[in-house]
Amino acid sequence: MNTNEKQICAESESCREMDKKTREEIVHQLRRAYCDEWLAYMQYRTAATVIKGMMRPEVAADLLENADEEMEHARMLADRIQELCGEIPLSPQQILENCNCAFVAPTDPCAYRIICQSIASERCAIAVYRKMLTMVGDRDPVTAHLILEILEDEVEHEYEFRQFKEDIEATRDAMTAQCDK
Ligand SMILES: [Fe+2]
Ligand SMILES: [Fe+2]
Repeated sequence: MNTNEKQICAESESCREMDKKTREEIVHQLRRAYCDEWLAYMQYRTAATVIKGMMRPEVAADLLENADEEMEHARMLADRIQELCGEIPLSPQQILENCNCAFVAPTDPCAYRIICQSIASERCAIAVYRKMLTMVGDRDPVTAHLILEILEDEVEHEYEFRQFKEDIEATRDAMTAQCDK
């Protein structure tokens, strides 16, 4: 951080309002979530490219849409990190070293498998944001509001993937069912 940035930081409303220890704890959690969002973006973009099988166009479109939302989450988190005078991870290596949720490579392109992996990824994100919300509590209402906003999207993503899973299972069951006559 250069002298000018330090000056801006010292004058920032968010920095002055919060004690240093609280601010650093919150920035630490925001940075980790920021890394998760980048990995989720990459996971869904990659999965959308390689996916095969039942409901491929619908699931691929949803993966791409969700990837864009994960990137928007990363942008929102980056803004808050900087408002709190923190620094965002600057390299893929730092992102991999600081994430909460593992990157799951879509080595099996089967749509059903990709959906199951995506559900697990969304559940990891939901657990992280719920924990963060408890940690932040009323110590920083602005960050709490941001986390809640992102959490809402993650819950919706998990629900959408779960619906695809149910649809595929229902179709599979119908295809193996025997006709009465
Ligand atoms: Fe996200
Ligand atoms: Fe998500």
